[in-house]
Formats: sequence, structure tokens, C-alpha cells
Amino acid sequence: MVTRYGLLSPKTLLFSRQGVLISRKGMVLMARVELFTEELAAIADPSYRAFAAACLEFAPQEFWTAPASSSRKYHPEFAHGEGGLVRHTKAAVRVALDLLRAFPELEPERDVIITAILLHDTCKVDPDTGRTDPDHPLLPGKRYERFAGMLPPGGYEEVMALVETHMGIWGPVDVWKMSPPLPERMGAALLVHLADYVASREWVSEKILA
Ligand SMILES: [Fe+2]
Repeated sequence: MVTRYGLLSPKTLLFSRQGVLISRKGMVLMARVELFTEELAAIADPSYRAFAAACLEFAPQEFWTAPASSSRKYHPEFAHGEGGLVRHTKAAVRVALDLLRAFPELEPERDVIITAILLHDTCKVDPDTGRTDPDHPLLPGKRYERFAGMLPPGGYEEVMALVETHMGIWGPVDVWKMSPPLPERMGAALLVHLADYVASREWVSEKILA
């Protein structure tokens, strides 16, 4: 049986520019966005689910193929190599879902949180250099603006605020230093940052993808 992790193995897959995954033997296996079927199903509101899927379909090609860390200095072993950034994103959603169990008061923000995590690193790779763009938290807000109308009023801004702050103290927008501060979004912002941070620790096992 092919596991989700196995399905992403570069040994068995090629990533097509046409938005599908094909096997080394040339078979079309699935639409790329279907790699996130389970994560999208964790979004309750259909408008957020459809928005997240539309953005993923429109994500840069590099998102689907790049490792999570161009330097290999960070991230666990499973997030290295082709498709590593996709595997990291899936791991971050898994951590977020576990954290939500511990913080039920943030449950009403689940859809915004999961949507933000799905998109947080989609623009991470600079297509010219193949390396991490340090301003990547700011890029999804521009790239996916065309889909903003799929969300309820204010929804797009809420999602993108969480994307912008996902790197915490290491990113271009630090929630702790925002003026005015964002106390009403602080819990969700911290959860998104923590999910990304924990999922990128070197000691995380690939069992997180099982
Ligand atoms: Fe990340």
C-alpha cells in the first residue's frame, strides 16, 4: 500500500507543471491539491475550504517541489528533498490540529488557522535563486488577492494576518511588536506560529505524516 508519505516520494513521483502528480512511469495519479485532501477536510466552512483549495491550485510551482529548507540547516529529515515543503505544511497542520485540542477557546478560529497554515509557506522559495525568500510571509497576501471574494467580509485579511506573522520573532511582522497590538488575534497568531515552529524542529519524526 502506498502511504501519503510514500506518494510524495521522489522515487515514485514527478511533479507536473499542469497541476497533477504523475508517476515515473507517466501515469497521472492525482491533482496536486489532492495531497491536501485531509487537511482541507479539517476546514469546516465550505467557503474557507474552497478558498484554500483555490489558492493551493494557484501556488507557485516551487511550493510543490522544493525542500522545506534550502540550506538543509533546519527542518526534520522528512522535510528535505523534493516535495519537502508540502510534507512540512502537512506536518504543521497536524500540529495545529493537536494544539487546537489543547486550546478549545480557539476552536471558533479553526478555519482561519488551518487556511493560514496551508498557505503560509506557499511563496517561500525565490524562483530566481531557489532559496528561501525572507519576506515570504508577506507574499501570499498579494498573490491570492484574486480569491479574496470567496471569503466572508474580513476573512481574507484575517487569514493573511496570520500568514504574515507565522515566523514569530524571526519574521518580517512580529505580533509582539505590532502597533497597535492585536490582542484579539494573538491566540490564533501564536497557534499558527507554534504549529510551524514545532513542525520544523529537527527531532520531529516522519510518523507525524502517518
Ligand atoms: Fe513553515
